[in-house]
Amino acid sequence: MTHCPPLADWRGRSVWLVGASTGIGRATASLLHARGARVFVSARNAALLDEFVAAHPGSRAMALDVTDAAALARAADEVVADTGGIDLVCFCAGHYKAMQATDFDLAEALRHLEVNQAGALKLLGAVLPHLLRRGSGHLSLVASVAGYRGLPRALAYGPTKAALINLAEALHLDLAPLGIGVSVINPGFVETPLTAQNAFAMPALLTPDEAARAIVEGWERGRFEIHFPKRFTLWMKLLRLMPDALYLRAVPRFIHP
Ligand SMILES: NC(=O)c1ccc[n+]([C@@H]2O[C@H](COP(=O)([O-])OP(=O)(O)OC[C@H]3O[C@@H](n4cnc5c(N)ncnc54)[C@H](OP(=O)(O)O)[C@@H]3O)[C@@H](O)[C@H]2O)c1
Repeated sequence: MTHCPPLADWRGRSVWLVGASTGIGRATASLLHARGARVFVSARNAALLDEFVAAHPGSRAMALDVTDAAALARAADEVVADTGGIDLVCFCAGHYKAMQATDFDLAEALRHLEVNQAGALKLLGAVLPHLLRRGSGHLSLVASVAGYRGLPRALAYGPTKAALINLAEALHLDLAPLGIGVSVINPGFVETPLTAQNAFAMPALLTPDEAARAIVEGWERGRFEIHFPKRFTLWMKLLRLMPDALYLRAVPRFIHP
């Protein structure tokens, strides 16, 4: 089912991926470049962004930290000055450290909030004026299936991803009638620097390139929620439908902290 204007032809489209020095964001930027888009990549690591640009002629690096609202606003202005508008902006930046209540670390929990959630809001502050002025474009947030329900070891990470899912729904309600597309991306496990710390065997693990293909296909089909791989995410959706009493009893049996 189509929920947003499908992004079918990427040639000449201006796309800005925030959190694209490694992992899912980088692979998606690379795929869109191959499809002919004018690609802008942001993250903190300027050297990795420069490597991306060297390997993807015509792309542009804008190093920044998503905790810096002014830097995001300057970068959004640069994309618009260069291309005339933003056809797609995707918030891929993410911070993750496994945490549970017995090893609660307030500074770490707040860091998740600052990067994953406040970072997305700061990006909104930077791009919404441009998208609204033009009455077109697409805004995509990378959340996670970890945002569907509370999970073991996801005490700091999970709530920020739940917030992004909720934020994307509210944005869609407000922006779709104005012609602006909104999508939320909920990956299962993808092999990236972010998940390298996981000591457990990650089920249905994808490569970043596989994730990028699923994401771009979701945008091309005009999906609101882009989730993958289905063999994993459909189980996670089933957990979301379970009544609390059943869920809270079942999870400790199958997922051990
Ligand atoms: N891998 C998975 O299994 C999985 C599953 C579900 C959801 N996700 C989500 O997918 C997104 C991409 O993650 P990934 O797995 O591809 O991990 P990754 O390779 O570690 O990518 C994270 C990206 O975010 C950037 N970033 C982190 N903090 C930043 C900050 N303060 N300012 C600007 N950029 C920042 C990183 O670049 P710098 O360090 O250069 O700043 C990097 O480009 C994240 O939102 C993650 O939560 C991943």
